[in-house]
Amino acid sequence: MTKFHRTYTTKANFMLHGGDYNPDQWLDRTDILADDIKLMKFAHTNTFSVGIFAWAALEPEEGVYNFEWLDKIFDDIYGIGGRVILATPSGARPAWMSQKYPEVLRVNSARVKHLHGARHNHCFTSPIYREKTQKINRLLAERYGQHPALLMWHISNEYGGECHCHLCQEAFRNWLKEKYPDLKSLNHAWWGPFWSHTVTDWSQIESPSPIGENTVNGLNLDWRRFVTDQTIDFFENEIIPIKEVTPEIPVSTNFMADTHELIPFQALDYSKFAKHLDVISWDAYPAWHNNWESTADLAMRVGFIDDLYRSLKHQPFILMESTPSLVNWQQVNKAKRPGMHLLSSLQMVAHGSDSVMYFQWRKSRGSAEKFHGAVVDHDNSLDNRVFQEVAKLGGILEKISDVVGTNRPSDVAILYDWESNWALNDASGFGLKTKRYPQTLQTHYRTFWEMDIPVDVITKDQDFTSYKLLIVPMLYLVSEETISRLKTYVASGGTLVMTYISGIVNEHDLTYLGGWHKDLQEIFGMIPVETDTLYPNDRNAVHFNGKTYELKDYATVIQLNAAKTEAHYVQDFYANTPAVTSNVFQKGKTYYIGARLEDDFHREFYSGLINELAIKPAASVKHGKGVSVQVRQSPECNYIFIMNFTEEDQTVVLESAVKDMVTGEQLSGEVVLEKYQVRIVEKEKS
Ligand code: GAL
Repeated sequence: MTKFHRTYTTKANFMLHGGDYNPDQWLDRTDILADDIKLMKFAHTNTFSVGIFAWAALEPEEGVYNFEWLDKIFDDIYGIGGRVILATPSGARPAWMSQKYPEVLRVNSARVKHLHGARHNHCFTSPIYREKTQKINRLLAERYGQHPALLMWHISNEYGGECHCHLCQEAFRNWLKEKYPDLKSLNHAWWGPFWSHTVTDWSQIESPSPIGENTVNGLNLDWRRFVTDQTIDFFENEIIPIKEVTPEIPVSTNFMADTHELIPFQALDYSKFAKHLDVISWDAYPAWHNNWESTADLAMRVGFIDDLYRSLKHQPFILMESTPSLVNWQQVNKAKRPGMHLLSSLQMVAHGSDSVMYFQWRKSRGSAEKFHGAVVDHDNSLDNRVFQEVAKLGGILEKISDVVGTNRPSDVAILYDWESNWALNDASGFGLKTKRYPQTLQTHYRTFWEMDIPVDVITKDQDFTSYKLLIVPMLYLVSEETISRLKTYVASGGTLVMTYISGIVNEHDLTYLGGWHKDLQEIFGMIPVETDTLYPNDRNAVHFNGKTYELKDYATVIQLNAAKTEAHYVQDFYANTPAVTSNVFQKGKTYYIGARLEDDFHREFYSGLINELAIKPAASVKHGKGVSVQVRQSPECNYIFIMNFTEEDQTVVLESAVKDMVTGEQLSGEVVLEKYQVRIVEKEKS
């Protein structure tokens, strides 16, 4: 079980409520800026991220600065008791800079140099861009570092993408020289002799490209690692003056998710990035009310990402952006239905957020995001439905400030790994469209979400010895070092679940020889000898605990050694052979799930483990499907969020008396939650 105590990640002991505020779009409208300050109070908002993308307003010409407008914003926000999260402006730059210093422009993988435009498009290596960002960041830190409104730093915006210019190629080669002692070891790791890809001089190495090298898995994997490291290196360069001038102000940058099917952001390894941040924050834009999944299904996937990003530091995080209503970049941009804003925002708090922040405070009048939802609409009206929902939520957040700084201890961990996902996706094999690693982890997470059992979604570098149950689905790439830590975990009493397509390659993406890694063979008491990939319409089944469960996509043929068969296949050439196995290894136990099985199998299988390991939900609330109960804990109190993610009324049964933190009512027994309703109740620990 993870330890917990209060952690004030931002040094604020209230729930942050506010969001991206872009007054630089309105500098010629002092009436509107004055309205903003008035409306902020009515909306019960208290914190604003300013300066994101404001470089052209801050430095209209090279070396000519204009901070007066920002001085006033700081003072005005502070004047109403608000706080500022100050952004560095590097997410977009003024046109003069690209014109004068073309090296700051990104080059894509096809080696086409971009023109100036859009945003998030700089070269991470460019010495000039690094120098320019440091300079403006230092000026910001010196000017606002002592301002009492300054709460936190928001470094750049949503770092992402990659650059393939000659400076980046050189940096990549240097990165490789640091990693590999010589070309012999590089050629071995990249399996050079295959197709005559042996490299004989460092200068022959180029980043992967659609018009060049793109088939060497080891190179592709190293490039992805380099992109993460180079992004972090750029970030580290940005924060040098910030840490020097304002060492006591925490630093964050806003992480993302991939949005259509909501899964963690794929392109950067956030487990590495997290180590460089004081606070984790992320931008959540789930497509509520979509036509491909239920509200509860989507809520479960949001919970998974929250639990992953929270577990990166095992401390509360910040919801840095969300929309109070709709976005403008989906195929269909549906408005949040009444009640959904409260529910979706409080779900984030339930999973560990100490804030609800929006993009953006006031809707832009022109350009690319003028139809994106905002707190203040073009009507500038207090009576606007969205504004009213935001204000209502603000009132609730003020009443639950005791939740700030509390955590979510957990007995169960699911292991998520960015590198393994990259390698698996790059592997030409299995089903090219059915690998779906993040989604697979979400299907394992689902049972625990449905049963209100808190889960930490952890990464391989973290200590997992304290969990009763560790679930490691589809860990295709796993190093000897991780294997040995898994072995120690089981030997000392842990319960480990692994699945098909796990333990196939090492950290260089080279397959393990000899069947399977010998330690995995030993702890699982079996060998996965063949992985059968099925066509999307193919179905097979397994027999487990007297019932039959459907399987699709993947089935592993298993050679049993010391292990026991828990389930066996129903059809095909492996009918009646083991599909799921278990094995006692020293003080612990392992389970291997050989096939991709339906949710009902996971429910049955994990319920057994939950009972056996005496894993308990964090609160005893009886409820039907689609209701989620999530708990944050302080040393003294449990804060229980009961959330109805269905379109119908739901009756829940509270097993002990609790106090509603918002209405002050004492509640016990049956309570009815309307469609999308949330109750936040507190229960003192006995
Ligand atoms: C985020 C971005 C914001 C805004 C928002 C719209 O990804 O950081 O600046 O564009 O999306 O949903």
